[in-house]
Amino acid sequence: MAKSASPNYLDHLGRHALRYVRPGQTLGLGTGRAAAAFIRALGHSGIKVRGVPTSNASAQLAQALGIELAELRNVARIDIDFDGADEVSPRLDLIKGLGGALVREKIVAAAARRRVFLVGAEKLVKRLGAHGNLPIEVVPFAAACVARQVHALGLRPALRRGADGAEYITDNGNFILDCGVREIRAPARLENALLKIPGVVGTGLFVGMATMVLVASPDGKVATLRPKR
Ligand code: A5P
Repeated sequence: MAKSASPNYLDHLGRHALRYVRPGQTLGLGTGRAAAAFIRALGHSGIKVRGVPTSNASAQLAQALGIELAELRNVARIDIDFDGADEVSPRLDLIKGLGGALVREKIVAAAARRRVFLVGAEKLVKRLGAHGNLPIEVVPFAAACVARQVHALGLRPALRRGADGAEYITDNGNFILDCGVREIRAPARLENALLKIPGVVGTGLFVGMATMVLVASPDGKVATLRPKR
């Protein structure tokens, strides 16, 4: 899905996030503009870490910057995961996946001891779904069946397509259904209902996962949000 160019304040946010990084750590490297800003800052910092990328795009960026990469299957633990988000609720639940990497992002986030999400202030919403889209990754074989069942749950699924009109294919070889949603009152319940549909690989709902959200304003200020639990 097309996104606008990276705003400058994301570069500042990426550098700001470096304060949570220690040499020798293993880091999750998210996907998208904010995550890319963090990866660039990390590469330029010279801090020696290992990165577990959540997409081929992030792997290529990190590699070009000389960041050592590791595969998830060869890593005993991930110290901190750094990623972006599309929506952040007051409870710090998230919607992710406009960049199409939601499944690997959730796997890496779940494997990390701490999860830091980097966003611009425009991503803060009163309730998840406010921006109207929830991406779901589906097995291509099942896409039409899944779409019907997702529709029955009250969402409006549409197969994601590239600029050339062809189906968008994730790094896992799957399709994405971009699901029109209204505000989501019970994200965990919706997540459970969606995951019960055979053929759904993962959803963009990240419920109760954020350790911290760093929110950048265009004036360069960064606010630190932590969940109240
Ligand atoms: C990638 O699949 C997404 O989950 C991104 O992390 C999310 O879309 C945020 O991206 P930006 O930082 O580019 O807005």
